Amino acid sequence: MTTKEIRKAFLDFFEGKQHQIVPSAPIVVKNDPTLMFINAGMNPFKEIFLGEAPVKYPRVADTQRCLRVSGKHNDLEEVGIDTYHHTMFEMLGNWSFGDYFKEEAIEWSWELLTSVYGIPKDRLYVTVFQGDEKEGLPKDQEAYDFWKKWIAEDRILLGNKKDNFWEMGDTGPCGPCSEIHVDCRSDEERVKVDGKALVNNDHPQVIEIWNNVFMQFNRLKNGSLQPLPAMHVDTGMGLERLVRVLQQKSSNYDTDTFQPLIQFISGKSGIPYNQGESNGKTDIAMRVMADHIRAIAFAIADGQLPSNNKAGYVIRRILRRAVRYSYTFLGFKEPFFNTLVPVLADQFDGVFPELKAQQDFVQKVILEEEVSFLRTLATGIQRFEKYAAENKSVAGDFAFELYDTFGFPIDLTQLMAREKGLSVDMDGFNSALEEQKTRSRAATAIDASDWVVVHEGEENEFVGYDVLEAEAKILKYRKVAAKGKEQYQIVLDRTPFYAESGGQVGDSGVLVSVGSDAHAIKITDTKKENALIVHFSDELPADPAVTFIAKVDEPKRLSTENNHSATHLLQAALREVLGTHVQQKGSLVNADYLRFDFAHFAKVTEEEIERVEAIVNQRIRENIGRVEERAIPYQEAIGRGVTALFGEKYGDFVRVITFNPEFSMELCGGTHVKSTGQLGYFKIISEGAVAAGVRRIEAITGEAAEAYLTQQSKLVNELKALLKNPKDLTKSIEGLLEENAKLKKELERNVLEKAGSLKSDLAAKVQNVNGVNLIAEKVDLPSAEAVKNLAYNLKDIVDNLFLVLATENEGKPGLTVMISENLVEERGLHAGNIVRELAKEIQGGGGGQPFYATAGGKNPAGLAAALEKARALVAG
Ligand code: ALA
Repeated sequence: MTTKEIRKAFLDFFEGKQHQIVPSAPIVVKNDPTLMFINAGMNPFKEIFLGEAPVKYPRVADTQRCLRVSGKHNDLEEVGIDTYHHTMFEMLGNWSFGDYFKEEAIEWSWELLTSVYGIPKDRLYVTVFQGDEKEGLPKDQEAYDFWKKWIAEDRILLGNKKDNFWEMGDTGPCGPCSEIHVDCRSDEERVKVDGKALVNNDHPQVIEIWNNVFMQFNRLKNGSLQPLPAMHVDTGMGLERLVRVLQQKSSNYDTDTFQPLIQFISGKSGIPYNQGESNGKTDIAMRVMADHIRAIAFAIADGQLPSNNKAGYVIRRILRRAVRYSYTFLGFKEPFFNTLVPVLADQFDGVFPELKAQQDFVQKVILEEEVSFLRTLATGIQRFEKYAAENKSVAGDFAFELYDTFGFPIDLTQLMAREKGLSVDMDGFNSALEEQKTRSRAATAIDASDWVVVHEGEENEFVGYDVLEAEAKILKYRKVAAKGKEQYQIVLDRTPFYAESGGQVGDSGVLVSVGSDAHAIKITDTKKENALIVHFSDELPADPAVTFIAKVDEPKRLSTENNHSATHLLQAALREVLGTHVQQKGSLVNADYLRFDFAHFAKVTEEEIERVEAIVNQRIRENIGRVEERAIPYQEAIGRGVTALFGEKYGDFVRVITFNPEFSMELCGGTHVKSTGQLGYFKIISEGAVAAGVRRIEAITGEAAEAYLTQQSKLVNELKALLKNPKDLTKSIEGLLEENAKLKKELERNVLEKAGSLKSDLAAKVQNVNGVNLIAEKVDLPSAEAVKNLAYNLKDIVDNLFLVLATENEGKPGLTVMISENLVEERGLHAGNIVRELAKEIQGGGGGQPFYATAGGKNPAGLAAALEKARALVAG
């Protein structure tokens, strides 16, 4: 079976068991402060497990792209070195949300592996949770007994908390799990060593392929386990490993998942893959590239551009790791990595269509990163060469600098050091690395205490599309500390506050308690955490249990709506003027302005900007009414041709915002003006590049646009007044510029003439002292450049020259010393040392080369003494 067939067989099997097949969520996580990337198939369902979101389908299956490169699950350093860890991998999963439990999960996993995929039963082992006294958890006897129906008892192994109790992170849903392992060794080897002994022992041929988690608890911040409202099944099977088992390969990279990439790399580098031990480094490099391109391409396709912080930096580091390996071990000195994108896009065509649809864009972003990193790399290697020449061994700090700043993997530094016969202080490196990890953990850590429940009830009804004020109860609150600041997060039963999303900032406002002693607390921001709408405040109400009026800051919300609707009009206008390749790549909408990033490969010209503004302003004057549809089936909306975003997770029903169906229809959860006339006026204030192939426009509307225009016209009036109200302002300024240029040229000519006559005057003043042609004079020249020219010109016409020029420019004294090269050599003179000595007379300092040097100082009165000193020096 091919990878495509194996994936399909999994989904078909569970569809046959009444599971709803859903698409993979984007790999980049939004609205979850504990996670940057999806690291398990269950992440998108976290809120269902916790009982925070309703169950739409009780049974679900999918293939989810996952990335384990940061946080609790991090495999990056293994990738490429071994043959079965990956950055991006696909996790095949089936879920029961409060529906079936252990019995069916176990039975179906067995049926699929042995009957559909035909894995021999005598190659399989399963593990079951043995219990944990400290946690007060019993052995999972149920799972044990269900397994006994299918597999010989001596193949059911008990495992500890580390292997058989799965947790998503430090907090969150968790439960005992049962893993399935396959022994892929040859028959002879299997006879020699019992596979049982190799399970969970890092043996490259005895590997876990499937994990069945029985979700029963929520791990709280205080470490305790709280039973979930319902029991669930969460399973995960690594597709790449499964394929390797079914295609009977000893390495994931030998399967048809990776071979097209490996063969492409091997072909272009001219180095064969799989050369055995002696060529280990080239094999590793090819694996690293074939693996990393998947993570990077999908992260970019899902909206995460490489950058200097957070998720963007993780992507940049992975990319650099790949380029580093290919540069050193495969000889790719020019950008090459990006050319893997089309190969990958073909492979995933029809599976994850996001990539094919954005192939050019993704490739361009990677190319640009490569170009700049290859430059850094060259600098890093130079730094290393210099360091190696000056040191006897490589200090941990330096190795860390190469690693951190220049992206050198440590094994590369070790290799380069070995070539120079140097050792690397690995302990020092590791402790620097550990320190950085601690720092970054501390920087991102949000210390949240557990929720305090005030009222039980359904959460989060958002009423803010219709009203800006509503009666509400506090359901729960908690204290959070991040970056040394303490705040409260508050969840209401219903709220008019819009939580930051889709680029639109969160609402602020107040919570006012209802009653005779009405008291208000400020809500500073509103954000989403998974499905929860969380209100931020610096304080808690005196009595959280009373009823409140939740009131949104109205002026802020209305200006924000202006800018959000303007963003839709802008996108539609850009597509009209530049073409439909204009895809949104990011946006920010707040009360002051809007920022819109989009895929486009050239600068937007001034003329195009004007056309875009004209279109948007025309649409504003048409005063088009907003049409808001809250729940359109996703497919129907797409069929109508609405604008949707890559990297966004859409549900089955979507909200569509339309301003004239012929012009702008977008999937959007944001808040908008009732009709476009409210925007008043639209003005673009900047256009520029943010990344390869991504342009950014900033624009303003309404009052801000009015203030901007007032300011501009004031400026023009001021300029006119300065120029005595000319008829044509532009012409008049052009005239001034022309005149200025003419005057400058004249001035330069004057200086040149002056320098020319000075040259002959000075040449005539030469005194021969001790076989040296001495000139020591004060000259009047307006610029340092002119003095320098004069000195060089004199050197050309006077042999054995010893020249000292004293200058005074705007009250600042200066000295210039020029000595013919033969004097420098024969008499050991040094202009730099001499000028320093002379400068003492003018309370200054300076320096330079042996034949030419300059100095500046504070005391012009000392210039004469300096010249005297020079004469005395030559006279000996
Ligand atoms: N959530 C489980 C895992 O990631 C299935 O292993």
